[in-house]
Amino acid sequence: MQPPLYYDEEEEWNRALLLYNAVLKEICTKIEILNNEFKLAHQYNPIEHISSRIKSADSIARKMRMNNRELTVENIIRYVNDVAGVRIICTFTSDIYRIADAIAKQNDVTVLKVKDYIANPKPNGYTSYHMIVTIPIFLSNDVIDTKVEIQIRTIAMDFWASLEHKIYYKFDGKAPDGIREELKECANIISFLDQKMFSINEDVKHYHEDFNGGTAMTSNLPAHLTKEKANMIPDELKSLYGSITSD
Ligand code: GTP
Ligand code: MG
Repeated sequence: MQPPLYYDEEEEWNRALLLYNAVLKEICTKIEILNNEFKLAHQYNPIEHISSRIKSADSIARKMRMNNRELTVENIIRYVNDVAGVRIICTFTSDIYRIADAIAKQNDVTVLKVKDYIANPKPNGYTSYHMIVTIPIFLSNDVIDTKVEIQIRTIAMDFWASLEHKIYYKFDGKAPDGIREELKECANIISFLDQKMFSINEDVKHYHEDFNGGTAMTSNLPAHLTKEKANMIPDELKSLYGSITSD
């Protein structure tokens, strides 16, 4: 990517890009691990897909201009929270909160800001869960906490957001009232659809349990183990994953 900057800042910008690329790798790996764990425990995939990007030079410059800030590397690092960004597309709204919680409680993740546009949709109808977090990046002589924006939404929310985004740009942010109202109406339909799909899925789960007399996992469990405990790594094994034993 070409730096949108003065020549003498190029090296500093390249260092920043190294960190932003590294933080994208860290967060994507964390998300993939959570998804795999969930798949193993529940035989179902809470994440449909993940995408990540480094904000383009043009968008960074536009944002800085809009906020009347001088275009320096320091200002970008300080004020642009979404230079590194990931978008996680989940199946159900409940998965969004589950994933967000699991990320937030990791020891090396610091949550700087959360915007829950699902609990509080934007006036235009936009829904999504946003977090700005930092993750430490280990360099040869330094550890740098680096910001990344995480957007988590359902497939339906994503469908809405991408159409709204196109319309917003098409009309330069000033879409006619009629179109804005229709989009708002679609947002309501999408929220209804997400709830409906969730409740159908819950019904299907109950059918499955009735049919099998409980899932295969639970039916073979000793009486003292709950299904949840059976999906966890036993305490006596935990330390072994990080130990070296010679025999
Ligand atoms: P920026 O919008 O990035 O300047 O930051 P902000 O401080 O307003 O943060 P917010 O969490 O509200 O938005 C962050 C990102 O979410 C945006 O850059 C968009 O990618 C997305 N977003 C926020 N609002 C909307 C919206 O109304 N429509 C769509 N399509 N996307 C939105
Ligand atoms: Mg943004």
